[in-house]
Amino acid sequence: MPSPHLYQRPEIYAALRAPEPSLVAAAERLLHTTLFALPTSVFDPACGPGTWLLHFARAGARVAGSDVSPEMVAAARHRLDAYGAEIVPGDMRAIEFATRPFDAGMEVSGGISEMPDDRSLVLLLRAAGRNLRPGGAFLMVVSCVEPHDPNLSLYDGSIGPVEIGPGASGAVEYRVERHDRSARAITMRREVSLSGSTEHSGFVDRYALHTCSAAEFLRVLDAAEAFELVAAELVETGTALDPTSAWRNGEVLLALRRRS
Ligand SMILES: C[S@@+](CC[C@H](N)C(=O)[O-])C[C@H]1O[C@@H](n2cnc3c(N)ncnc32)[C@H](O)[C@@H]1O
Repeated sequence: MPSPHLYQRPEIYAALRAPEPSLVAAAERLLHTTLFALPTSVFDPACGPGTWLLHFARAGARVAGSDVSPEMVAAARHRLDAYGAEIVPGDMRAIEFATRPFDAGMEVSGGISEMPDDRSLVLLLRAAGRNLRPGGAFLMVVSCVEPHDPNLSLYDGSIGPVEIGPGASGAVEYRVERHDRSARAITMRREVSLSGSTEHSGFVDRYALHTCSAAEFLRVLDAAEAFELVAAELVETGTALDPTSAWRNGEVLLALRRRS
């Protein structure tokens, strides 16, 4: 049997990558800063199993999501069935929700960093802008690597063990396997360990992160012509970053406001 990829295993992903309280608090704070209110409608352009959308749906927001993985689309539909959510298959660079416009869009789990290049980021931002009302908020995470900083330690980490079902638990460990500075790419090795009543004892998969320095991201933002940058902070520590000077290596959470 071929080794699975985590994005084909929504139930394991949902348990391992449930929204972390500190990131939820940061996201809500930045949404409030950007919108001057909490959103009444939210979309996730790479929604996975819909766990972030469920958080907003439970708070009363209208929600929508899209994903390229059929397994994730089915899981998100199932999870959000009771909330009348619009969940569609599709590439985040071309999202077009029938229920647009939204107050806010967000993908803060690293999915956007899996876009292969700056051109894809421009397309994603334009698509996000088309699905937001003027003044709407878009939260995203970029994988930041600044030109002269060799320290990639914030990309390594682990989660768990957590319960992933009756009698089963799982954990995940992330390691930087390769960094190609000129290609602006990090290859991540992700090891999922499972125990208890599961069909696998675990699996390893790999994925690539496209990296951006602050300057590279600001060029993408200019080219997209859809947003202004409101705030930037380092996910790991919550440290606020000056949006217009160099950031720090690691995942950077960005709050954008759609231009009128
Ligand atoms: C890190 S997960 C994030 C899931 C969800 N946003 C969350 O926070 O739980 C990344 C998701 O992006 C999806 N994905 C990858 N490339 C995509 C693309 N080009 N368009 C839409 N979804 C994509 C994957 O299938 C996966 O479900």
